Amino acid sequence: MLCLRIYRYWRGTQAARLKARSLNLSTIRVYKSLGEFSILENSNGMTIYRYWRGTQTVGLYQEFYLKIQGAKILVTGANRGIGLGLAQELNRRGAIIYAGMRDPSAFDAKFDKPDNVHPVPCDLGSKASIELFLNDWADEKFDAVVNNAGQLTGGLIEEQDLDGIYSMFQVNLTGLIHLTRGLLPGMIKRGSGKIINNASVSGVMHLPCASTYAAAKTGVVAFTNSVNLELKGTGVSTLTLLTPGIKTRMFDEISKLYGDKMDVSKLSSISPEEYAKEVVSCIERDKFFYTPGGSVGVALWLARHFPRTFQKLSALGFKRS
Ligand SMILES: NC(=O)c1ccc[n+]([C@@H]2O[C@H](COP(=O)([O-])OP(=O)(O)OC[C@H]3O[C@@H](n4cnc5c(N)ncnc54)[C@H](OP(=O)(O)O)[C@@H]3O)[C@@H](O)[C@H]2O)c1
Repeated sequence: MLCLRIYRYWRGTQAARLKARSLNLSTIRVYKSLGEFSILENSNGMTIYRYWRGTQTVGLYQEFYLKIQGAKILVTGANRGIGLGLAQELNRRGAIIYAGMRDPSAFDAKFDKPDNVHPVPCDLGSKASIELFLNDWADEKFDAVVNNAGQLTGGLIEEQDLDGIYSMFQVNLTGLIHLTRGLLPGMIKRGSGKIINNASVSGVMHLPCASTYAAAKTGVVAFTNSVNLELKGTGVSTLTLLTPGIKTRMFDEISKLYGDKMDVSKLSSISPEEYAKEVVSCIERDKFFYTPGGSVGVALWLARHFPRTFQKLSALGFKRS
């Protein structure tokens, strides 16, 4: 469970001194001394290794890893499906869950440690509702956020419902960006945090009948990649989930929306509980990307490296009329 990862090393007296100041090391306590190394802790519980010569600090290591036990984690769309599976697994591992959902009053899911679960209203459907959520809850100092809530659109583009498309982009992409933008400053200030964005294999594999959904999920992948670069050296990191087929209500909707235009009979799926275990393992190892294995992994590889071949193969399963 415990996975340590050295995240940053500031070498040189001046750089180390400046970093020590920004990490609030005046509040540290030294609890072990190993020759020229000291293991320190700052007020946020972050572990820092000080490398010193004489009285001079000549280097600082900052260790970064998300301790699931006791971490405050916001999961959006936590009332069902993948979000619920993740919330339950993280709760089982000792996290304090803020379960974001549109209607907390209707929430009655079972948790191992129910006292550590706080249903919170978080409707990703409008700018105003997200602002309200941030005003009310951002002070909770989340250690991680799982941007999971999502909607599905599909079918021939000219036949897709226009309001559905607007709503899906708002929830799947714009809302996710808004929430991330609102929660990041606190994480950066505290010097630690994890942003987990639930994209989809559709963020890389662009299939017929999935045009708008794939566009939004590709946006999630691009957004997360960009932000990850901006976060270098802050102690905050991202994880993009290229989620494969998971047996949820959304998965069942695929065949209805794609209708007889696209052959989805060979789509495979695993349970949300199974998937949650894989995601939590990625969080613990401070992974940057979750990519599925098996035949879906091969298809992803093909879509990335041989897009023309992938397109030709995908077209085989599509029939316009
Ligand atoms: N299942 C798959 O095969 C699959 C594959 C790739 C990626 N994903 C992604 O995984 C995520 C979860 O999907 P799922 O399979 O668990 O689907 P799901 O069972 O349909 O759950 C969707 C979740 O999103 C919430 N949601 C929808 N609109 C919302 C809004 N305006 N504000 C707040 N929450 C909202 C739903 O809440 P309500 O109950 O209030 O509607 C529900 O909790 C999505 O982002 C999806 O795109 C799923």
